[in-house]
Amino acid sequence: MTVDGGRARGIAGPGGTRPSASAVALRGASLAFGPRTLWSGLDLDIRPGEFFAVLGPNGSGKTSFLKVLLGLLKLTSGSATIAGHPAGAAGRDIGYIPQQKGFASDASLRARDLVGLGVDGHRWGLRLARRRADNEIDSLLERVGASAYAKVPVGQLSGGELQRLRVAQAIAGGPSVLLCDEPLLALDLNHQQAVSALIDRQRSETGAAVVFVTHEINPILDYVDRILYLAQGQFRIGSPEEVMTTEVLSDLYGSNVEVSRVNGRIVVLGLPDATTHLHHDHVHSALALDQGVEEEA
Ligand SMILES: Nc1ncnc2c1ncn2[C@@H]1O[C@H](COP(=O)(O)OP(=O)(O)OP(=O)(O)O)[C@@H](O)[C@H]1O
Ligand SMILES: [Mg+2]
Repeated sequence: MTVDGGRARGIAGPGGTRPSASAVALRGASLAFGPRTLWSGLDLDIRPGEFFAVLGPNGSGKTSFLKVLLGLLKLTSGSATIAGHPAGAAGRDIGYIPQQKGFASDASLRARDLVGLGVDGHRWGLRLARRRADNEIDSLLERVGASAYAKVPVGQLSGGELQRLRVAQAIAGGPSVLLCDEPLLALDLNHQQAVSALIDRQRSETGAAVVFVTHEINPILDYVDRILYLAQGQFRIGSPEEVMTTEVLSDLYGSNVEVSRVNGRIVVLGLPDATTHLHHDHVHSALALDQGVEEEA
């Protein structure tokens, strides 16, 4: 099912000059591992400048969805086009923030070196002259508010500081599609808001489409145009108002799920697997903390 419930959004910049071409297009897309189908019959067009969220419980196929767009996983059937290229051929038109991993505390790479990994070996096939690359790294660091710790080894940075660098690395070169895999995981509320705002600013200023995988809709509720909600081998697409309802989520999960709005936030109660998929911030922070500890182990 495809519901084109997205709000019309103003976009500026180079991406906005091609409003008719889809940033991401899926046709009859299915993905299965053995007998298990993650989704099938997925038809979807994501517009340039659209903020598109992907939600769903652990194992529902959110990361796999991004991997299909990156060309790292092959669809079982159907087709995927990204930035006008078949998935896997879009190269530097894609910026990617992978699901979070920390650095060992003795890692000697400095913050600006990490950002530089996104700048060197540029889309023109030539390395930028050293000074141009340095200038671009400086402006990226400033853009994400990381200039103060440019020379600090990454192993000494906090999760929130590191995530700003990952955003800088992903937006280097001005990609037309930004794929973000749980960029808010293990961040406190302030950093969740800061990182979400950075990503949305890149969207609005360059016309990049954002595909944002998240467990938690609330920090991005102000930005999101549409949601792809994956659960139990099924999906729904639509605006937050259309998808985040008691009826739709109960139908997707096949059990009674209660969605309510509290002070402009969405609270989801009664999810079948309440320990792995929560929308409530307080509980979610505890979960994120757990996962952070697990990842470092
Ligand atoms: N290459 C693969 N071969 C077989 N099964 C896979 C492969 N990649 C992913 N899977 C399975 O597909 C399912 C979806 O995985 P995916 O990583 O996309 O989930 P997710 O929604 O991102 O979960 P999480 O919220 O935990 O990050 C999982 O059950 C996973 O084990
Ligand atoms: Mg994942």
